[in-house]
Amino acid sequence: FMQVTASAPGKAILFGEHAVVYGKPAIAVAVNKKAYVTVQKREDERIHVDIKDLKLSGYIDPENNEIEIESRENSKKGILNYVLSAVKMVHGSAQGMEIQINLDIPIGAGLGSSAAVTVATIAAVSKFNNMNLSKDEIAEYAHDVELEVQGAASRIDTTLSTYGGVIYLSKNAEDIVPLEINWNIPLVIGCTQDRGNTGELVESVRLKREGYPEVLNPILNAVEALTNDAVISLQKKDEKKIGELMNINQGLLDAMGVNTTELSRMIYLARKSGAKGSKITGAGGGGSIIAYCPGKIEEVTSNLNTIEKAFNVEISKEGVRIEV
Ligand code: PMV
Repeated sequence: FMQVTASAPGKAILFGEHAVVYGKPAIAVAVNKKAYVTVQKREDERIHVDIKDLKLSGYIDPENNEIEIESRENSKKGILNYVLSAVKMVHGSAQGMEIQINLDIPIGAGLGSSAAVTVATIAAVSKFNNMNLSKDEIAEYAHDVELEVQGAASRIDTTLSTYGGVIYLSKNAEDIVPLEINWNIPLVIGCTQDRGNTGELVESVRLKREGYPEVLNPILNAVEALTNDAVISLQKKDEKKIGELMNINQGLLDAMGVNTTELSRMIYLARKSGAKGSKITGAGGGGSIIAYCPGKIEEVTSNLNTIEKAFNVEISKEGVRIEV
């Protein structure tokens, strides 16, 4: 192949974040905001990566495990570790490559941008090298990349970027079941400027649970109950219940201590603008909110946009794909 492009979707958690760390269930969806990775042949034998959306570029060297950044100052340069590790998995015979990455997912907002980049890079580079990987193999390599780069990782993001759709997770997200949802859930995402650190937030909930086990354990059980109710409400398209369960989940996330003033402002503005439910999505402490907005997508999006970046997302039924 002279040129290959692959795309992979990002994700959002609808119910159960944090509780999932304690073996409780969660529901997460792939969203139609994607990473696109294009691989082309280069004349020399180097591997050059260019992410225009981040004004970030540089060379990666899988043999020596090195990254040489060209851009001056870049707080998002961590994403190149995922690209390097992904290329290492599948780069086969040494040959020069020009890798261009386009993102319509904001990075570091809890929307699975690094998994989407990882999965699309594995798909594009393997195809470019005439390897035919199955989706199962892509998902496995992508999980290995996250383990290498992050030290620990759940399979939520890499699973959704690979297969798309809606998933129900349990047993510390080791057990993943696809959910058949046959309607388009109208969602709006709002992103705050600051990035919450997932590891630190998970640790803060652990400490809170250790300090107040009698208080926190019932909260985690309540999240489990509402997430299981939400499966039924989603399958029945019960708009009122879906919204109420999201709002209850938000109250419990607040009780766990992962809310912020900025997230709260957006959450309440979304509700005031007509969202049936709104809550943190992901780890919190910054990052993003998700609002469920039947008939109110425009209102919620434009009102949230007056304070932070907001956009409508749809569920991506499709996972990773080679673009033609
Ligand atoms: O890092 P995020 O925003 O995708 O969310 C992580 C979800 C947590 O439940 C808080 C942690 C985890 O590993 O499941």
